[in-house]
Amino acid sequence: MKGPLVLSVASEVFPLAKTGGLADVAGALPPALAAEGVAVRTLLPGYPAVLKAAGAAQPVHTYDSLQGGRARILAARAAGLDLFVLEAPHLYDRPGNPYVGPDGKDWPDNAPRFAALAKAAADIGRGAVRAFVPDIVHAHDWQAGLAPAYLHYRGEPRPRTVMTVHNLSFQGQFPAELLAPLGLPPHAFSMEGVEYYGTIGFLKAGIALADRITTVSPRYAMEIRTPEFGMGLDGLLRSRAGVLSGILNGIDTEYWDPAKDPHLVQRFDARTLARRQANKAALQARFGLEPLADAPLFGVVSRLTWQKGMDVLLEAVDDLVALGGQLALVGSGEAALEGGLAAAAARHPGRVGILIGFDEGAAHLVQGGADAFLVPSRFEPCGLTQLCALRYGAIPVVARVGGLADTVIDANEMALVASAGNGLQFAPVTREALVLTLERAVGLWRDRDTWTRLQQHAMAADVGWRRPAGQYAALYRQLVAGAA
Ligand code: ADP
Ligand code: GLC
Repeated sequence: MKGPLVLSVASEVFPLAKTGGLADVAGALPPALAAEGVAVRTLLPGYPAVLKAAGAAQPVHTYDSLQGGRARILAARAAGLDLFVLEAPHLYDRPGNPYVGPDGKDWPDNAPRFAALAKAAADIGRGAVRAFVPDIVHAHDWQAGLAPAYLHYRGEPRPRTVMTVHNLSFQGQFPAELLAPLGLPPHAFSMEGVEYYGTIGFLKAGIALADRITTVSPRYAMEIRTPEFGMGLDGLLRSRAGVLSGILNGIDTEYWDPAKDPHLVQRFDARTLARRQANKAALQARFGLEPLADAPLFGVVSRLTWQKGMDVLLEAVDDLVALGGQLALVGSGEAALEGGLAAAAARHPGRVGILIGFDEGAAHLVQGGADAFLVPSRFEPCGLTQLCALRYGAIPVVARVGGLADTVIDANEMALVASAGNGLQFAPVTREALVLTLERAVGLWRDRDTWTRLQQHAMAADVGWRRPAGQYAALYRQLVAGAA
């Protein structure tokens, strides 16, 4: 059967533009869907790096004015993806982070910047590019949230729409006065539409008006229907529960492959785990840690934010060292957390090593060299770093929330007996619970046979995109068949 045509819309796509896991997903899902017979094109903003990578792109649609300036949709192929690049210099010709200016604040015109992306998606959805008229427009996160809204208000015929929530804490809320400038009709400003506590909510609009809603793990799909995790949208999500589902993320297992990874000093697989030792030594050297073979080395690769529980890690870092452990962390984010981590490193020279910044190579070396990998998130829609850790045999120690709970099997007694455990979970997200679990991890690590078995289970886990891509393909087919 010929698969549906899908337009995927995202504000970041690896390796062209990335601030987090959204980019990884937007970059890896289309090729995995191709294997399921689903053809995907990806629409993204024409940031300078994207236009450069797109090279000789073909203009396929022109706007005399899109949110205040001339714009074109360019068709291109780059990084193995079929792309539509929205070239709009007045909106996107800015260096650096896609959302934040050099002063560290969100760009003041983020509403028109991402409304334009959604508008272009809706136009392609309605046939603006003859050669590609999608059956489905699939919007990712708030930046694309208005795409289902524009399509909804323009009426039938229209493609079906899917809204994927990667993180409910970023909602894209903007002043109500922007309604007309964004090209939304007056009646859109209602509880059933884009209105959200007196503002325009881009993610709210997508959740309210898309035909189907997905999020990135089954557990997060449940959590977000509760006040604790719903970030104010739990009521709406409960009312739409019939069209809401959770599909776990995968990782690109070609790119994240310890047997081929160029960032490692020694490549390895589940049968050659002893080779990890050379990566541990390289990691210790890179992070200024003592070259101890008998100290369990904990790794972290993370945005430094409240979501990720980095303040809890800071509270537990003295205990981690007291347990004989070492910490290698690469991350960037909130200044207070960066400062706290720098202080911890200064307090524990040779034991705590940090690298502030976004460093792809260091992230791979942490995965390939750390004994265990910490993810103490307060909430985690899916999380990708624990999947990389499983693949690299760095035993994940994770908070029991969201996708972390869905992907890591706690090595409790029965799991060990059943040869099923591949990591450790803890709850609640407090210093006390984390420290108890660090103790448990150190105990297991000192029992070499058990630890090796955990590593083998971890590395055997199916963390690729094949299964999830099959689930997206099934959802698209149902939707196109009208069985939604
Ligand atoms: P989130 O999107 O919430 O930040 P995910 O776990 O889904 O969390 O994805 C994070 C992605 O970003 C992973 O690919 C991870 O390796 C990468 N990453 C995060 N911080 C850094 C960093 N400082 N340097 C390099 N890669 C990073
Ligand atoms: C978000 C979430 C993360 C998820 C990623 C990709 O950034 O915080 O949990 O893995 O999106 O879906």
